Amino acid sequence: MLRFGPLTLSEEPALTTYLRGFADAGEGEIPAYFGKPEWSFEQTVATLAAWARGEELGDFVANTTVFLRDGDVLVGHYNFRHELTPRLEQHGGHIGYSVGPPFRRRGFGSRLLAHGMDFGRQLGLPRILVTCSPDNPGSIGVIRNQGGVLQDTIFFEPLECQVSRFWVEL
Ligand SMILES: CC(C)(COP(=O)(O)OP(=O)(O)OC[C@H]1O[C@@H](n2cnc3c(N)ncnc32)[C@H](O)[C@@H]1OP(=O)(O)O)[C@@H](O)C(=O)NCCC(=O)NCCS
Repeated sequence: MLRFGPLTLSEEPALTTYLRGFADAGEGEIPAYFGKPEWSFEQTVATLAAWARGEELGDFVANTTVFLRDGDVLVGHYNFRHELTPRLEQHGGHIGYSVGPPFRRRGFGSRLLAHGMDFGRQLGLPRILVTCSPDNPGSIGVIRNQGGVLQDTIFFEPLECQVSRFWVEL
């Protein structure tokens, strides 16, 4: 059974296995996962929950991380920014997502964005911005599956990379 929700305190072994899946695939950076390796698991759960409430943010905006589980196995997650900043308008958008390498190309990425769209509707947003590299066919496939329309592709100077910006109507 598929279930969406925040990370819970019973999921430490599941998170360890999930993160190892990225490391084993040689993917050091996990898009949309902002837990830090030096944090304890309890600190990770508490900090993600605080950010979702708009607390402990530093220079970031309120953001909610939601995991997708297949049974007890974590298969993917997204991070939804409750509002845009000038930087997020260029790179990041409202939502980022990742699917664990062993679980890709089974529709989970598309389900994550669909769930994120429901989250955006609950926030009262009329549309959400989704950005990705023009060289990321998986993410472009996810966005197009949910009706995303390309606005443009820009050069993002801070990271010296191209960014395609899509709007998804809610
Ligand atoms: C991008 C990502 C989330 C896609 O997840 P996924 O679960 O494989 O996506 P889906 O199975 O829903 O696939 C969506 C569409 O893209 C296509 N697709 C997925 N990966 C693809 C790839 N590597 N090459 C070409 N097409 C791809 C699928 O065939 C599908 O198209 P279809 O519905 O017409 O058949 C996943 O590859 C990932 O986590 N990548 C690393 C992190 C990342 O890039 N996140 C996005 C940052 S913007």
